[in-house]
Amino acid sequence: MDNNKPIGIFDSGIGGTSIWREIHHLLPNEKTIYLADSKNAPYGEKSKQEIIRLSMKNTDFLLNQDCKLIVVACNTATTNAIRELRAKYDVPFIGIEPAIKPAAINSRTQIIGILATKGTLNSELFHKTTEMFHDTKIIEQIGYGLVELIENGQIESPEMTQLLHSYLDPMIEANIDFLVLGCSHYPYLIPQIRKIIPNHIHIIDSGLAVARQTQNLLNEIGFNSDNNNKPVFYTNTNPEVLQTIVGSNYAVQEKDF
Ligand code: SIN
Repeated sequence: MDNNKPIGIFDSGIGGTSIWREIHHLLPNEKTIYLADSKNAPYGEKSKQEIIRLSMKNTDFLLNQDCKLIVVACNTATTNAIRELRAKYDVPFIGIEPAIKPAAINSRTQIIGILATKGTLNSELFHKTTEMFHDTKIIEQIGYGLVELIENGQIESPEMTQLLHSYLDPMIEANIDFLVLGCSHYPYLIPQIRKIIPNHIHIIDSGLAVARQTQNLLNEIGFNSDNNNKPVFYTNTNPEVLQTIVGSNYAVQEKDF
């Protein structure tokens, strides 16, 4: 294994940059290539077969860039396609799954809420996880429309506030003490969510856990040892929103993939 090869990260759009950020922070010497398949966002409403097809297309692109491992920075793609990706490709994959376990273990009310896409909440992998915590009441809510607004740069819009209220108010009334963000786009909503939910409700996402898992895997396959670690970002739509999210230090390239 060539240690200097990059880590490939893909998502249905810009949301997986919340995972990229954690990985880049924890592993600053690693070169990362981020792929935003925004043209096909959201994945959450697509069929399992379509999510698998798109995930393979993204993987092919990243492997053509010589990536040594692939991070599937999308809950919907992980819960619907990671088994098929692992079966097809001879490269390690790391996925992102909703952090149900730490929420269920630490909840005092034994009532937790999860906000995720339809694709994630309906997946077999998600059901298997929730079955392990039958002592905890899990309130599931599909975040219809949230990914679209984030992809359009409308995080602080009145439409966003209205949608978040309609999804979170019933959870607050049901007495949740943990809110699990089960979509890699949603960490960008934390300031908005904080304005709605009371302080005693903890918000958890899986970004740091994925970065630590990546670090553990690199202990086996090797860390980057050269200095060519400038992250590279690709998107297949207008790069403006992705550029705003990652900041002007990094170049975002528009490419048809
Ligand atoms: C989506 O594309 O619908 C959301 C991505 C995710 O589930 O993380």
